[in-house]
Amino acid sequence: MKKFNSAIPTLSLILISFLSTYTQAQNTIPKVESLLAKMTIEEKIGQLNLVTPGGGIATGSVVSSNVEEKIKAGQVGGLFGIAGPERIKTTQDFAVKNTRLGIPLIFGSDIIHGYKTTFPIPLGLSASWDMELLKRTAQIAALEATADGINWNFSPMVDIARDPRWGRIAEGAGEDPYLGAAIAKAMVTGYQGDDLTAINTMMACVKHIALYGAAEGGRDYNSVDMSKIKMYNEYLPPYKAAIDAGVGSIMTSFNDIDGVPASGNKWLLTDLLRNQWNFKGFVVSDYTSVNEMIAHGMGDLQAVSALALKAGLDMDMVGEGFLTTLKKSLNEGKITEAEITMACRRVLEAKYKLGLFEDPYRYIDKKRPAKDILRPGNRKIAREAAKKSFVLLKKHNNTLPLKKDANIALIGDLANDKSNMLGTWAPTGDFKLSIPILEGFKNVAPNAKITYAKGANITNDSVMAKNVNVFGRTVVIDERSPEVMLKEAIEVAQKADVVVAVVGEAKEMTGESSSRTEIQIPASQKKLIRALVATGKPVVLVLMSGRPLVIEEEMNLPVSILQVWFPGVEAGNAIADVIFGDYNPSGKLTATWPVNVGQIPIYHSVKNTGRPQPTETFLKFKSNYLDAPNAPLLPFGFGLSYTEFEYSDVKVTTSEINQNEGLTVRVTLKNTGNYDGEEVVQLYLRDVVRSITPPMRQLKGFQKVFLKKGETKIVSIELKPEDLKFYNSNLDFVAEPGEFEVFVGTNSNATLKAIFTLK
Ligand code: NOJ
Repeated sequence: MKKFNSAIPTLSLILISFLSTYTQAQNTIPKVESLLAKMTIEEKIGQLNLVTPGGGIATGSVVSSNVEEKIKAGQVGGLFGIAGPERIKTTQDFAVKNTRLGIPLIFGSDIIHGYKTTFPIPLGLSASWDMELLKRTAQIAALEATADGINWNFSPMVDIARDPRWGRIAEGAGEDPYLGAAIAKAMVTGYQGDDLTAINTMMACVKHIALYGAAEGGRDYNSVDMSKIKMYNEYLPPYKAAIDAGVGSIMTSFNDIDGVPASGNKWLLTDLLRNQWNFKGFVVSDYTSVNEMIAHGMGDLQAVSALALKAGLDMDMVGEGFLTTLKKSLNEGKITEAEITMACRRVLEAKYKLGLFEDPYRYIDKKRPAKDILRPGNRKIAREAAKKSFVLLKKHNNTLPLKKDANIALIGDLANDKSNMLGTWAPTGDFKLSIPILEGFKNVAPNAKITYAKGANITNDSVMAKNVNVFGRTVVIDERSPEVMLKEAIEVAQKADVVVAVVGEAKEMTGESSSRTEIQIPASQKKLIRALVATGKPVVLVLMSGRPLVIEEEMNLPVSILQVWFPGVEAGNAIADVIFGDYNPSGKLTATWPVNVGQIPIYHSVKNTGRPQPTETFLKFKSNYLDAPNAPLLPFGFGLSYTEFEYSDVKVTTSEINQNEGLTVRVTLKNTGNYDGEEVVQLYLRDVVRSITPPMRQLKGFQKVFLKKGETKIVSIELKPEDLKFYNSNLDFVAEPGEFEVFVGTNSNATLKAIFTLK
C-alpha cells in the first residue's frame, strides 16, 4: 500500500494525480471510450443516477418517482430493489430499446446473507471462521440472485464494529481487522468468481467506506472522529482487502470523516481509494447520502452534489442530486465536463465488465429461477453454515448434547417462530420458508417428547414492539397476560426432563437504524429464564441476537448457553443438529461481549496504557473502573465445544528473522474430551516495543482444525512479513526491529507464548 503523507509537497501530489489519470487512460476500454465520445452531457449524467422504484424490496424511506419515464429519457444508469427475469427484462427493454444509445442498466440489490436461501446473519457467519464456507455462501447468493436477473450486490459490509449498541454490527464480521480482511476477500471472490461475465457471478459492492462502525455512541448514522493511525491500522484493512481482491464497486458511508461526510470526502474517495489503493471500480453513494450532506451542514443540493462529484463519487443512489444539479454546476463552472465523464466512464466500465454491452439480457433467463434458486444443495449449505456459526457460551453439568429420546420442554416465543429466523437485512428472503426450532427438533429427534409453551412475549414493551415491527410483525404481544403465559411454561417445564428456552432479540432489534442503549435480553424473557431455572430442571438457553448482549446475570445461572445469532432459513434444523449432538459446536465470537454497556467500546486489541492494572482487583491510580472489571464477559475468539482441547508446546521455527522474512509458529493440539470436534486455533502477536504504542496483542493468524477424540495434531501457522508491519506516525507501513511475543490458544486470552526477534 502506498503511504499517505500530508507533508508530500504539492508538486508530487500533482504528479501522482497526473500519473493516476495517465494510468487510467492507458487502461481504458475502447467500447466505453467510443460510447463516451458519442454521449451528451445529459446522457452522461443520466448514467450516474441510481434509482429504486419501490413496490418491490424496500430498503429505505423514500423511493424514486417516474422511473419508467426517466429510464426512457436516458436519466438512469442503474436500478435496485426489483427482481425476477420478467420484471428485469421489461425494465432493461426501456433502456435498451428506448434510449438513443441503448446503454443497458445495471441491476443492484442488497443480498447480505443469501438471496432466497438465507444464511445466518454476517456476524454469525463470521463466527464460523471458515473462509471456504463464507465464500461458498457468497457463491450461492450470486447463483440465486443472478438467476433472478440481478448482477450487482451491495455486499459485503466490512465495517469494523466495536460497539454492540450499534445495530448494524449484525451485518459485518465484528471487531477485528485481520479476520475482517480475510472475510472481505472470501466474500468478494465468492460473489465475483474468476469471471464477472459468467451468468452465475455478480459484481460485489464493498461497503460502507469508511469507518461507519465507529459511529459515536453506537448511534446509527452518527459522526466519526478518528486518528489516521487508528484508521489505517484498525479500520481500513477490510476495505483494502476487498479492493485487493478485485471488488468492482464501493459504497460510501453516512458518517463524516475528519469533518467531511464520506460521500463528499476527496481525501477518502480520491487520495486514498484511487491514488493510494489504486481502486479501478466505481463508487456509489449510500441511499440519499449525497442529499444528506445538506443536513450535515455542507451546503444546498447543488453544492453537495458538486462536492460529491469532485470528491470522486460516481453514482448517486436515490437522491437525484446529480441528475438535477450537475448540469447547472457545469454551466456555472463549478465542476468540469472531465469530472462528469470520469464518473460516467467508471459506471460504463462496470457494465462492460459484467458483459452487459455484449448482451444486456445476459442475466435474464426465465428458466433459471426454478433451476437455481433454493436448490436442495443450497439449503444444505445454509444448514451447515448455521450450525458452524453457533457459539457455545457456557456448558453446565454436561446437559448438552441432549439425548434424541429426551422429554423436553421447549419454551419461548422464538422457539416456534418463522418470522424472526432470517434476521435483519434479508429483504430478498422469504421468512415463510424458514424452519422453526420446534419443527427442527421434531425432524432431528422424532423420538423425543417435546412440549412447547411460549412462556413470554419477546418484549412486553409495546413501543419497542411497534418500532421493530417495521418489516412485518415479528413481535406479537400475546392476548394472554404475562402471568398466565409464565404459569403455563412452568407447568410444561416441571413435567419435562430438560428445558430448552429460546430467548433473545427479535430480528429488527439489530440492524440498520436499530441501535440500543440497553443490550440485555428483554425483561419479559429474563423473568421467564429465572422462573425456569427455579424449577430445578436442567436448563439450556438458546440465545438469539444480532449483536453481543449483556448476559452477565444469565452466565451466572446454572444453565448451558448456545448463541445462535439469527440462523437463516435452516434455523430449526441447524439448531437441532447441535442441541442433539449431530454437530459439535465450533463457532468463536468475532466481537467481544461486555460485562455491561459502560465498558463499550470494547475489543481485544487494546493498549496497555501507562498505568495498566496488574490484576482485576481495583487499584487506585490505575486504568480501571470503580464499579466493573476491565475484562469483558466473553473475550474475542471465545467459544466452547462439547469436547475439550489442550494446547501445548508453542514453538517458533526460528528465534531471529530479518526484515521481509516470515516464520512458522507450531503448536500441539490434543482433543482430550469425549467428542470429535473442530477448534479454531488462534495466533496473537505482540510487538513489544515500537515507535507508536502497540496493542497488547493482535490477531495475526488462525486455522480451523478437526480432531477426532483422543487425536493430537501439530498445527502450523505462518506469520508473513506483513503481519509484523503497522502504519507508523508517518503512515509508512513498516516492521520495526525488536522482540515479538506470539500467543497461541483457544481465544484472545491465550497464554501459551513464544518469542522471536526481528533484526
Ligand atoms: C442503506 C444502507 O445503508 C445500505 O447498506 C444499503 O445497501 C442501501 N440502503 C440500499 O438498500
